[in-house]
Amino acid sequence: MKGMILARGKGTRLHPLTKVINKHLIPIGKYPMIYYPIFKLREVDITEILITTNQQDIPLFRELLGDGRDLGVRIHFEAQQQAIGIPDAILLSKTFVGSDKLTVILGDNIFHDSLIPYVQSYEKQSTGAKILLKTVSDPNRYGIATFDKSQKNILSIEEKPSDSSSNYCVTGIYMYGTEVFEFIKQITPSSRGELEITDVNNLYLQKSKLTFDVLPNWWIDAGTYDSIFQANQIILKNE
Ligand code: G1P
Repeated sequence: MKGMILARGKGTRLHPLTKVINKHLIPIGKYPMIYYPIFKLREVDITEILITTNQQDIPLFRELLGDGRDLGVRIHFEAQQQAIGIPDAILLSKTFVGSDKLTVILGDNIFHDSLIPYVQSYEKQSTGAKILLKTVSDPNRYGIATFDKSQKNILSIEEKPSDSSSNYCVTGIYMYGTEVFEFIKQITPSSRGELEITDVNNLYLQKSKLTFDVLPNWWIDAGTYDSIFQANQIILKNE
């Protein structure tokens, strides 16, 4: 299994904090944010990791992380030319992934739970994808999964719904097989001008090839001042 961390993004929501520094390099607890997804991948023995970010930020990440050996991993870089969505970044991993499976983590997503049981169960899954859900109080910020009456099957996923009966958010970790590259070619940009990972996951769903689990503990998308503050508070307390 290969790993990938997405570390580009427009970062405009965090200006002026991110005007001269990439969001994924700002401190959370005692580490730059990017360390947390690296730790999560390392914990599941995924040591070949591709980081995608803006061309001009690659030297900064290199200076910080080197080739990854100090952290017990091997880090590779690819530049994502434009911030036009998660699937666009995933396409950059095609050669790196080869015939392996891929676990993708959004670089601003911080997970308390160990990913070990989920990655192990995905490794046994012969085909398809796996996502991890978490209940949230602000569903309009995320991709939200709605369920059938049994509450066991996802009916569909909607990106940032204005009005949803569900509060099951699709967190920023995705496990895919190589078919993901074909699925990405089938989608078109959304109204916000981006390729949406939700559209890719819905294609898996339509083919009954999407499994999921619900995370029991805290998870933070550290993309706003409030959530960065919250992540710092939780992590400093736990450390
Ligand atoms: C992205 C995804 C969304 C997901 C979220 C998790 O949102 O599009 O489906 O729930 O990450 O962090 P974005 O960060 O682009 O707003």
